[in-house]
Amino acid sequence: MNKQPIGIFDSGVGGTSIWSAIHALLPNENTIYLADSVNAPYGPKGKEAILALSIKNTEYLLSQNCKLIVVACNTATTNAIGYLREHYNVPIIGIEPAIKPAALQTQTKAIGVLATRGTLSSELFCNTTQLYSNGIKIIEQEGEGIVQLIESGQINSPQMVELLKGYLKPMLEANIDYLVLGCTHYPYLIDQLVNMLPNNVKIIDSGAAVARQTKTVLEEFELSNTTITGPNLKFFSNGNPEVMRVLLKKRYKVEYLKF
Ligand code: DGL
Repeated sequence: MNKQPIGIFDSGVGGTSIWSAIHALLPNENTIYLADSVNAPYGPKGKEAILALSIKNTEYLLSQNCKLIVVACNTATTNAIGYLREHYNVPIIGIEPAIKPAALQTQTKAIGVLATRGTLSSELFCNTTQLYSNGIKIIEQEGEGIVQLIESGQINSPQMVELLKGYLKPMLEANIDYLVLGCTHYPYLIDQLVNMLPNNVKIIDSGAAVARQTKTVLEEFELSNTTITGPNLKFFSNGNPEVMRVLLKKRYKVEYLKF
């Protein structure tokens, strides 16, 4: 039994979509969620800056005695996970766009990937797409501006609808039947996306897969918390805590923290 918390970070509030999947699967685990909203979006920043921010977030979580780190950000994972795994002595779980299931199941031989510039330009992403692009068209689209709107509480805004329509257009023209969400902020757009996409297009979001992987790794390293006392769930933001509180349906306290 290990009561130390699981540490989860993202460039902002989006990684709460991953936190929700982890908490649903592992309800006994204590968690600390860190939103680096003051530095969001990470997507347009270069690799070095993304790495430096990922190190800062990881070291804060380790200073809070976390037993495992979940990098709940595709941009941070694809640019920094190798370094983090090499330099820190706890298991580190990441998230990257789920190209593989989409590429293996597509009937139309065309899939769409919506992600940040930092993810789409990363070596890790390029290697994965190369591996699965044989005979398949992969339409990559940068979701410029989406993270900023979500971070400022404008998920259901006319600006968001305009952005999404524009980003989906080339994908629909290419007749995709899978849309891979390559950013942890985007699951909060699923309702809107479903309304804009034809019925045959399936949306792939990796939250549940990351949660399953977290469970597997906790068990493998004998780090699971098997006590059944109510878990301690902490949420910190260095931006406006209210945005995250609303995303979490006002069920949890979100504290401002300078880090
Ligand atoms: N949630 C982050 C991701 O998964 C957003 C990155 C950003 O801040 O641009 O990529």
